[in-house]
Amino acid sequence: MPQPKLNVLFVCLGNICRSPMAEGIFTHLVKEAGLHNVITCDSAGTSDYHIGEQADPRMRQTARRYGLTLTHRARQLRTADFGAFDYILAMDESNWNDITRHPGYRPEHAPKVSFLRMHDDDTRDLNVPDPYFGGPEGFEQVYQLLHRTGGRFLQFLVEKHRLQPVQKPSS
Ligand code: 4NP
Repeated sequence: MPQPKLNVLFVCLGNICRSPMAEGIFTHLVKEAGLHNVITCDSAGTSDYHIGEQADPRMRQTARRYGLTLTHRARQLRTADFGAFDYILAMDESNWNDITRHPGYRPEHAPKVSFLRMHDDDTRDLNVPDPYFGGPEGFEQVYQLLHRTGGRFLQFLVEKHRLQPVQKPSS
């Protein structure tokens, strides 16, 4: 049976901390699961504060500790994203508000806009805390949260879309 192609967009405010980390982790998990020909992902910010910048050095350093290199350059959410992506996942409630108030947002896009943390074990708090103004422990906490929840989200996609690895998973 032909497999669907799924495009996932992670969205935060600046696109330099949480969403590029989510993208980096999820790309790694997808590759590990042998699903990189089926699932693609990207990230974007609701603001224009950091367009063109690399991820925050503190987030890149955290990623490096776990063997990940973040190469994403910040970009702003755009109208075309609402058509191009199947899942648009906000990092927090404020991001969700901004996404659903974007000029390109239409009511028919509602089913694809949700929260990454909808896939966490406990969905009482849907926010990935913003580490930008805090200390180093916030970046570690965000990494752990995104790794756990990214894995749950991948499992959700595999089950929902009955995905089969296209290539042997890399061990
Ligand atoms: P992010 O974090 O939304 O996770 O990328 C932030 C980055 C920058 C700012 C706020 C949050 N800022 O105000 O510049």
